Amino acid sequence: MRRLSIILLLISVASTIVIDCKFENECWYRLVNCNLYICRVNTFTNPTINYLEKTTGIHSSSMTHNKVQAIYSVSKNVGFIPHEMTKVFPNLVAISMYNENISTISQTNFKQYPNLIYINLKNNKITIINKDVFKFNTKLQVIMLEGNKISQIHPKVFDDLNQLKYLEMNGNECVNKDAKDRAEVLNLIEVIKQQCLLNNYSEVNELKDDVKSLNSMINSLMMTQNTHEENHKNIVHELMTNFETNKKDVNQKFESNIFNLKNEIVNNKKLINELKVNITHEESSNYQNFTKFVIQQEPIFFFVALPSLCLLSILNIVMIYFCYHNCSRNNSQKRSKAIIV
Ligand SMILES: *[C@@H]1O[C@H](CO)[C@@H](O)[C@H](O)[C@H]1NC(C)=O
Ligand SMILES: *[C@@H]1O[C@H](CO)[C@@H](O)[C@H](O)[C@H]1NC(C)=O
Ligand SMILES: *[C@@H]1O[C@H](CO)[C@@H](O)[C@H](O)[C@H]1NC(C)=O
Ligand SMILES: *[C@@H]1O[C@H](CO)[C@@H](O)[C@H](O)[C@H]1NC(C)=O
Repeated sequence: MRRLSIILLLISVASTIVIDCKFENECWYRLVNCNLYICRVNTFTNPTINYLEKTTGIHSSSMTHNKVQAIYSVSKNVGFIPHEMTKVFPNLVAISMYNENISTISQTNFKQYPNLIYINLKNNKITIINKDVFKFNTKLQVIMLEGNKISQIHPKVFDDLNQLKYLEMNGNECVNKDAKDRAEVLNLIEVIKQQCLLNNYSEVNELKDDVKSLNSMINSLMMTQNTHEENHKNIVHELMTNFETNKKDVNQKFESNIFNLKNEIVNNKKLINELKVNITHEESSNYQNFTKFVIQQEPIFFFVALPSLCLLSILNIVMIYFCYHNCSRNNSQKRSKAIIV
């Protein structure tokens, strides 16, 4: 029973949150709007009842939750971006959760805010920015992720953010740079694509996903009422035909890609084996070169030293012969001995 209540407490802690706000108007750096109506968070607490009724703080006159444009929270150790925040403040354009021990962000955090233009998640513990996190936030102008632990980023995560003109990525593991205008942002995105590629990123899987989503788009299009009209029918028919040919193309490309990949692997294996053979061969030929080197000394002996010795001997014999005839016996014997020695 005690254990159950602890579990229940944990579940409620994880799923509901009371936000105690101080509501005020502010000017935010990088947001030109100086009438930003914000909730400055005093406390995030974890009650067991619905936080919606429990959101505290007093609005200025004529203001309501619906008019809150920004949430600002620093060092409350919240640990995550509360998904349910959207029910309390449905019209946020800016989220600032600074130094909050947040380790993951996902599409569900931001999906409900199509008008979001500003995200500040500096000094948190985010490690990965996955595919489509900002898919529904195409109006984003400012993203601050400085001082996290980001080591992997999906290469296309910023691609559809055409308004993005301020991107802070300083002090992360794979990137250490800020971009302060649109041109710099585009450069930084290229740097990120090179340095922060997701470990499991696969172009082929991306394409497969694209095909899948295209398929479901066409299917949902066919479900709509409008397809009963003749011209719409034609368009859908055309789309379907295009899709089928594209699908065929893509499938063929996959197959040929996989075929090529397999071939490459087989060839590389062959090459490695050949290299192994060459290496052992070279080692043994090195040995041969060494033995050859020893043998090469011999011709010098045979063709230079030996002939020289022979020549000397012949000279000796000739001299002895001459001495024998011309010198006195004593002299000649002495002399020949001297030469031979
Ligand atoms: C931050 O969050 C992690 C879990 O993600 C937790 O283990 C850690 O204790 C938190 N840090 C602080 C200071 O509460
Ligand atoms: C890639 O890794 C991320 C993070 O670990 C994960 O969320 C995602 O589902 C993975 N994708 C694939 C295709 O495995
Ligand atoms: C192995 O040696 C042969 C003959 O010397 C050469 O043609 C071939 O390229 C070498 N293979 C590798 C993998 O180096
Ligand atoms: C062995 O000697 C031959 C020429 O005699 C040379 O071409 C070859 O590179 C040498 N091999 C090695 C491994 O030094």
